[in-house]
Amino acid sequence: MLEDLKALTKTALDKLHAAGRADLDAIQAAYLGKKGKLQEVLRSIGSLPARERGPVGQAANLAKRAIEAALVDRRAALIEEAESALGDTEWVDATLPVAALGMTQGDRRGGTIHPITNLVREVEDVFLSMGFETLDGPWVEDDQHNFGALNIPADHPARDLHDTYWLNDGNLLRTHTSPVQVRAMETNEPPIRAVCLGRVFRHEELDATHENTFHQVEGFYVDREVSVAHMLYVLRTLLSEILQDDVQVRLRPSYFPFVEPGFEMDVTFRGEWLELLGCGIVHPAVLEAGGIDSSRWSGFAFGLGLDRLVMLRHGVEDVRHFMSGDLRFLQQFAGGVEG
Ligand code: FA5
Repeated sequence: MLEDLKALTKTALDKLHAAGRADLDAIQAAYLGKKGKLQEVLRSIGSLPARERGPVGQAANLAKRAIEAALVDRRAALIEEAESALGDTEWVDATLPVAALGMTQGDRRGGTIHPITNLVREVEDVFLSMGFETLDGPWVEDDQHNFGALNIPADHPARDLHDTYWLNDGNLLRTHTSPVQVRAMETNEPPIRAVCLGRVFRHEELDATHENTFHQVEGFYVDREVSVAHMLYVLRTLLSEILQDDVQVRLRPSYFPFVEPGFEMDVTFRGEWLELLGCGIVHPAVLEAGGIDSSRWSGFAFGLGLDRLVMLRHGVEDVRHFMSGDLRFLQQFAGGVEG
C-alpha cells in the first residue's frame, strides 16, 4: 500500500508539472476529490491489519499535502506565465496620434485635474505663503494617534461622533486629519506651523452632504502665546483667497475634545453665513501627549472639509460625485487641465 501511495503521488506530481490551466481542476478532482484516488486509499485503511493503519494513514496525509502544495504552486506559476505573456500582446503605444489608436473624436479629450486636487493645491499655496509647511500622515492610523492623544480616551462619548472603520489588527482608517497634529508634535520642536491635506474615512450613512471618503485640511500652529486672534487672521486669509472675496467670519462655541476653547467657524459666501470648519486653541493635554510643555507653548488648530468647500465654490449639489469617477462630472472642470 505504501508503494502504491508513492507511485500515486509521483504520477499526480508529474501530471501537475505538465498541466495547463484547463487541466488543474480535473487533476484536483481525480486525486483530492471526494471520489478521488487518495480518498479511496483512506477509505481502505479500515480493512488493513492494525499495525499497517498508522503508517499508511500518515503516508496518505503526506501525499495529500504534497499534491495540494504542488497544485497551488502550479496554479500560481500558470497565472504568472499568462500575465507576463500579456505584455507581448496587450500593449499600447502611447506615443501614437490618438486617431491611430482608433479613438473617436469624443475620446480625445484631455484629462482633467480633479476639483479637489485643484483646491488642495490652492490651499497649500496660501499656507506656504504664510510660512507653513505641508505634512503627510498615514491613512491607516492607530487608536492612540486618532483618538487617545487627542484627548479622546477609550470610553469617551466623542468617539461615537466618528463612525470608525476598524481594521482586524486593531488599527483604523483615520477619521480626521487631526492625528497629523500629534505626529508633527512628536517629531518637531516648537514653533511648528504646519498643514496636512488628505483623505479621511468615516462609516457614514451616505447622502448629498455625507461621503464615507472625503478630504480635510488640518492646520496647526504652536508657538509662544498663540491666541484666537492669530487663528482668526490665518483662517480669514485662507478663506478670502479660496473664495476670492473679502469674507467675514464668525465663531460659535463648539465642542471638540482636542481644543479648548473650541469653535465652529462660519463664513459669508454670496450673502449667506455658512458653517465650514472646526477650530480652537489646542488643549494642553494634547500638547503634552505630543511631548510639548504646555506651560511654555500654546497653539491653535483647525479642520476644514475640502469636499464641501468645492461644492460651495462650484455649486455641486451632491458630495458623492467627487469619488464617483464619472468622467462626465469631471469633464466639467476641464478648465483645470494641465499640459
Ligand atoms: C473634525 O474632524 C475635527 N478633527 C476638526 C477640528 C480640527 C476641530 C482641529 C478643531 C480643531 P468634524 O467632524 O466636524 O471635525 O469634521 C470637519 C469637517 O469635515 C466638517 O466641517 C465637514 O466640512 C467635513 N465633513 C465631516 N463629515 C463629512 C462627511 N461625511 N462627508 C463630507 N465632509 C464631511
